[in-house]
Amino acid sequence: MPKKRDTRKKNTNAAAKAKLRKKRIALEILAVGVGLAVLALAWAYSRQMPTPPAIPAASVLAIEDVGLELIAQRDTSYITVYYPKTNSAQVNRVVKLFVDEQLAHFRAGVQPRARFTLPHQRGYDEFTLGVEATRFDDDIVSFVFRGFTRYAGEEAGRGSLDTMTFDLSTGTQYALEALFLKPETDGHLKTLTTLAFGGPEETALAPESFARFALDGDTLRLFLPPPAQGVGIPLAPLRQLLARRLRAPIRGGVLDPAYALPPEPDVSGLEGKKLVALTFDDGPHGTLTPRLLDFLKEQGVHATFFVVGSSAALYPDIVRRAAAEGHQVGSHSYTHKDLTKVSAQTRGEEIERSAALLEELIGYRPTVMRPPYGAQNAAVQNASDVPLILWSIDPRDWETRNADKTYTRVMANARDGDIVLMHDIHAQTIDAAMRVVPALKAEGYTFVTIDQLIAARGGAQAGDVIYNRPA
Ligand code: NI
Repeated sequence: MPKKRDTRKKNTNAAAKAKLRKKRIALEILAVGVGLAVLALAWAYSRQMPTPPAIPAASVLAIEDVGLELIAQRDTSYITVYYPKTNSAQVNRVVKLFVDEQLAHFRAGVQPRARFTLPHQRGYDEFTLGVEATRFDDDIVSFVFRGFTRYAGEEAGRGSLDTMTFDLSTGTQYALEALFLKPETDGHLKTLTTLAFGGPEETALAPESFARFALDGDTLRLFLPPPAQGVGIPLAPLRQLLARRLRAPIRGGVLDPAYALPPEPDVSGLEGKKLVALTFDDGPHGTLTPRLLDFLKEQGVHATFFVVGSSAALYPDIVRRAAAEGHQVGSHSYTHKDLTKVSAQTRGEEIERSAALLEELIGYRPTVMRPPYGAQNAAVQNASDVPLILWSIDPRDWETRNADKTYTRVMANARDGDIVLMHDIHAQTIDAAMRVVPALKAEGYTFVTIDQLIAARGGAQAGDVIYNRPA
């Protein structure tokens, strides 16, 4: 039995082994096939990455004359970048540089991928940048960039906020300091802190906390670091602190009358003429200045009055009359102090108090200043937001109190483009002026204000020291 069985078993075993081998081969082929199919599916599936969140529409806000450019990438990373395109090539360069830096920073953080990871494990790297544009006036625009970065495998990403403010007409970028008349002396950051927190709160904020800001028509938006966050400060209460350029927001194309700019000097017909600018210091005087104004009106001649603020406060109507009759009113400080010999604070007060008073009287800030005694240095130049006007002819009328000598000295020295220094607080000077005007007219001179002389002869910047402007 066992033997027979053994034989049968041998036969059966051989047949079974052959069958089994065939089955195994079939199974192996099947397994390889299924495996290949799974791999193919996995590969195909792995090409499909999850849909990234859309960039919030609110963070892409365009304004007139400012277009939007888009950089979109959809491969190993999701990149969506909106940035503004203006009509200023210089501004576009600065913006593009910023965008390129942001992109480079993002790409530098992307980790190389492990080879075999399933799609749900590997996620995607994501960078979005949106821009919000606001307009202060025709030229000054602000951009607020909000970025978001999240790398593969991270639960939460990181936000970023950057701001830029430009003057599109010049291509210049504004730092916060540039928005203010005298950032050092005015303690503008303290003022901003007080306004931002609604009271004189003792919140110590480092100067760099104010680096991010934007302007719209009437608000300064500050993006303070946490926990302070964003805050909008109305510009109107800041007005006395603001740089001249920011004092006249144009709303709906119309200049706001509350923020009047000085009148444009009339330079028509001045080309090729011999020009002379008469200037009168230290007034106004209660009787002498009106006498001089009567005479100048009769002669159809305009002059420039460098008034002392404290005297202007005594005779506001005379100051208003001079401006109304076409003369220029400039500042000669508030109490006639030598601005080179006082503290920075006193210097600032002397300049600002006088300018603020004159603005109240004539409707706009004076556009020129004559420092008392003609004393000026770098500190005075830096403290002034207007050109400093000295002179090329000094008849020393205050010293001689002699009309003949004053008249002779002016006439002996007069040249084209001269600025003549006199003082309308001495009767003899008024007498001299009454002879000087017809005599210079007879020599072919045209009388101009300082603003006219500057505008006709090359212009000037704040802090420039001007003695004369020959052709
Ligand atoms: Ni003086």
